[in-house]
Amino acid sequence: MKPDLSMDFAGVHFKNPVLTASGTFGYGDELLDVFPVNKLGGIITKTVTLNPCNGNEQPRIAEVTAGLLNSIGLQNIGIENFISQPMKKLKKIGIPIIVSISGSTVEEYIKIIEILNVQVGVSMIELNLSCPNLNKIPICNDIVLMKNIIINAKKNSNLPIIVKLSPMVTDISEIAVIVQNAGADGITIANTYPAMAINIRTFKPKLSTVKGGMSGPCIKPLSIRCVYDVYKVINIPILGCGGIMEGPDVVEFILAGAKVVSIGSACLISPFNLINIVKELENILKKQNIKSLNSIVGKAHTIQ
Ligand SMILES: Cc1cc2nc3c(=O)[nH]c(=O)nc-3n(C[C@H](O)[C@H](O)[C@H](O)COP(=O)(O)O)c2cc1C
Repeated sequence: MKPDLSMDFAGVHFKNPVLTASGTFGYGDELLDVFPVNKLGGIITKTVTLNPCNGNEQPRIAEVTAGLLNSIGLQNIGIENFISQPMKKLKKIGIPIIVSISGSTVEEYIKIIEILNVQVGVSMIELNLSCPNLNKIPICNDIVLMKNIIINAKKNSNLPIIVKLSPMVTDISEIAVIVQNAGADGITIANTYPAMAINIRTFKPKLSTVKGGMSGPCIKPLSIRCVYDVYKVINIPILGCGGIMEGPDVVEFILAGAKVVSIGSACLISPFNLINIVKELENILKKQNIKSLNSIVGKAHTIQ
């Protein structure tokens, strides 16, 4: 019998836990003709802001050992263009679409949410309160502003709201409890880690912004640790993210306490990696005679 990979997360049903991580699958519509997108659990779209944004100067990507640095700086087409273009195609795919949004003020978040409220096909909103590439500290480091954004987002949204945190906080468990108490329906753990690389011929940093966010397999143990710690202190579900390259990595996140995961760098190598990960997951469960993925969420906490 086929193992059950489905998960209910923040009120939405996912047929499998493999989602695209924001910013690494474009707006989700570009690959519809070349890739069976409907085999994924869901799509998290590139973060959009109220107005279009050019992002940072090039170069804004650099490879490092077992990872990637980026400092894109939230380049995006703005919410109105997103709704009138990619969203039209995305709503026809038939898998949950999570729209990632960002802003500088509470009012900006509310305006974007009001626009999304009346769109058919949006399943959930991810508040990106963790962007490391905007020349200022991520919003999740400003507790008052963060709480205010979440409380108002919940008040004004008719969709589930999840919050994407940065791992670069003093204690991610403490921040996660604040996010839960502010009313969030779920938490994404985590965004990238601040890092830098230097070109030894030019003596210059490899990114125009000097520092950027590190992703890829090198961050997986760091993010697993974050998920594990947060699972201990909250009741809302966790979306795990960071360094997933293959099926066993997903199982690790699930055992640490995540219900679903999002995958970025592996998707940049090839989006087909995501389909392979779904197949690998199925095979792992079959081999270990596990009937449903849901039955092993957080199991690393009970077996020690
Ligand atoms: C090129 C690039 C662009 C990204 N853009 C966004 C973004 O717009 N919004 C966001 O929340 N995260 C963004 N991220 C972070 C990813 O969603 C993800 O959290 C991170 O890459 C860690 O996952 P990974 O190790 O599987 O890549 C971006 C990452 C990369 C590599």
